[in-house]
Amino acid sequence: MKISIIGAGNVGSLTAMRIAADGLGEVMLVDVVKGLALGKALDLEDARPILKNNYSIQGSDDIGQIRDSGIVVVTAGLARKPGMTREELLLKNAQILKSICLNIKELAPEAIVIIVTNPLDIMTLFALRVTGFQPARLFGMGISLDTSRFVNLISQELRLPATDIEGMVIGAHGEGMLPLPQLTKVKGVGLDEFMDNEAVKSLVTRTINRGAQIVANLGTGSAFFAPSAAIASIVRSVVKDEKRVIGVCSYLNGQYGVKDTCIGVPCRLGKHGIEQIIELDLSGEDLEILVKSAQAVARSAAQLSE
Ligand code: NAI
Ligand code: 2OP
Repeated sequence: MKISIIGAGNVGSLTAMRIAADGLGEVMLVDVVKGLALGKALDLEDARPILKNNYSIQGSDDIGQIRDSGIVVVTAGLARKPGMTREELLLKNAQILKSICLNIKELAPEAIVIIVTNPLDIMTLFALRVTGFQPARLFGMGISLDTSRFVNLISQELRLPATDIEGMVIGAHGEGMLPLPQLTKVKGVGLDEFMDNEAVKSLVTRTINRGAQIVANLGTGSAFFAPSAAIASIVRSVVKDEKRVIGVCSYLNGQYGVKDTCIGVPCRLGKHGIEQIIELDLSGEDLEILVKSAQAVARSAAQLSE
């Protein structure tokens, strides 16, 4: 299957590397900057003999090269610069996303599309409106990264392998993120068996701030190793029809009492994209936060012209 990745920056190029090396498909990396995607693809190709892996990767500055892709991952966008408001970033990234989405609609009308560009939830809803695609095959990556961060921090705190922990984070990717400690288990045992309320609260806060902590340390740019791993695991579940339950930013049409907007919830992912939206049994307060975040996404997306 042809898998196109639009945006050959930090997240896009590392995603291309992971997807190609995992043999999930023939990768086409595209960036608007002349030569950037091709240069990275040539470099990635040169590693094949060392890795003894004949993966397929190409790069181009021509978006026409995404034609007939089975999956398109969108990582193109600007990062917030000093002096730039969130509002300005939203408008700029929406402009970029709009032209990309119109190209996807024309060139790869059957593709499953994974949005990564921030602000993630608003961009996902906007992309759905621009493409008119069925929501099952256009969704966003955000809360699976947040879940991985939550699990990692718990594993460090408890000095237990991360693989023994099953975490749950839903909501918006950013403000409005909702880690759910009550649905997080260590080998089936509740977190409250391992730590007190204060410790849990501190882990929740650290999870919400993790992206900002990484940005502050990097000095320039944002996280890309864990984000690219999160994208690759979504792509794997679709390509291999694994039907894994992974949190993604999905269009909701009545689930959780939310209509006509996008927010992060657990979904079963297979060859048709989102094959089931899982409805968790949430407490009143958690449900209220989820609904408010989803409404905020709808309000912000309403400012953007398709
Ligand atoms: P980056 O700045 O390294 O790369 C972005 C790339 O997009 C640049 O190479 C740029 O030339 C390219 N680009 C811009 N306009 C384009 C267009 N019209 N067509 C093709 N390419 C275009 O940024 P990075 O770190 O790779 O992040 C990319 C995006 O992903 C950002 O919006 C970032 O906030 C977001 N992100 C989202 C995460 C999530 O969990 N949803 C996690 C990490 C990053
Ligand atoms: C993150 O959470 C920037 O969305 C990105 O690291």
